[in-house]
Amino acid sequence: KKDIIILGIESSCDDTSAAIIKNETILSNEIAGQKVHEAYGGVVPELASRAHQQNILPVVDAAIKNAKINKEDIDAIAFTRGPGLLGSLIVGTSFAKSFALGLNIPIIEVNHMHGHVLAHFIDEIENEEIKEKPSFPFICLTVSGGHTQIVLVRDFLEMEVVGTTKDDAAGEAFDKTAKLLGLPYPGGPLIDKYANLGNPDAFKFTKPEMPDFNYSFSGLKSNVLQFLQRETKKDKDFVQHNLNDICASLQKTIIDILFDKLIKATKHFDINEVAIAGGVSANSGIRKRLTEEGEKLKWKTYIPKFEYCTDNAAMIAITGRFHYLNGNFADQSVSPMARLKI
Ligand code: KG4
Ligand code: ZN
Repeated sequence: KKDIIILGIESSCDDTSAAIIKNETILSNEIAGQKVHEAYGGVVPELASRAHQQNILPVVDAAIKNAKINKEDIDAIAFTRGPGLLGSLIVGTSFAKSFALGLNIPIIEVNHMHGHVLAHFIDEIENEEIKEKPSFPFICLTVSGGHTQIVLVRDFLEMEVVGTTKDDAAGEAFDKTAKLLGLPYPGGPLIDKYANLGNPDAFKFTKPEMPDFNYSFSGLKSNVLQFLQRETKKDKDFVQHNLNDICASLQKTIIDILFDKLIKATKHFDINEVAIAGGVSANSGIRKRLTEEGEKLKWKTYIPKFEYCTDNAAMIAITGRFHYLNGNFADQSVSPMARLKI
């Protein structure tokens, strides 16, 4: 049987990434981040599009070189069609189309959220049999800067969002509260770092009342803002004096909110295969909690490798492979969709 080599391209937000996958084995996964947004406390769409434009060719070139293949070896190009920032998606989509036209190979459109979930199926070494992969059906908590979803995964490309956020995503809950603490963007990894040095029970923050398996994080942000205003009246250096404890308490609150609904969903659907995905699943507290709840509730748990949690093209390439095997190819007239649904 012939090997299938796919180039994956990801440009939905502020990371330009290209990856080469041979069957299920990743050969390269190049990522160019964008420092320009740090000063603004969030991603500036216009600047993101321009940076993608500058980065895309060098990143794709590096992915091909590091995979030690020739561009003529590529069988198909998978790209993120959405969801994401439209201007950013246009860069990856246009590049994928033109390159595929030049190479005379098919293109495959990939839903970024499928990618986060299917990152669990990437092999590092050929025929990686030791690695345990989720078996269907499983539940995946996808938490990123743009999304918070409880996904019921019935098959590779058969997924249903059973719970989602009504306002901010889990990553925004981290980033926006980090901003209130004066931390630079993205604040999630910094909260994680300081949380490890603090007491998670030092401060209490509010948890929302939401129906079903849905989330809301906007109330937490207002709660933290009011809390900081009140405390800094008493001690103007309150944040500096208590940074670790604030971060630890905040992180615990976000994790409690996430896991209340995740546990509820696994019970409702009677599923004990549980995975996490997305940028926020890089959080050490979330990883630890998943393992603990897994032991308590007899779940089999799955945590992707760190580099496949945040946005990357390897996950787009593996998703592209499953589409390839199903014969799902896109037309050259395909255009990106900012609000593409699962
Ligand atoms: O999946 P991702 O790279 O991009 C989106 O598709 O949004 O996720 C980025 C998000 C940011 O909000 C970032 O703060 C968060 O993931 N993040 C973390 C950690 N690492 C990344 N949040 C909490 N703890 C971390 N260790
Ligand atoms: Zn993402």
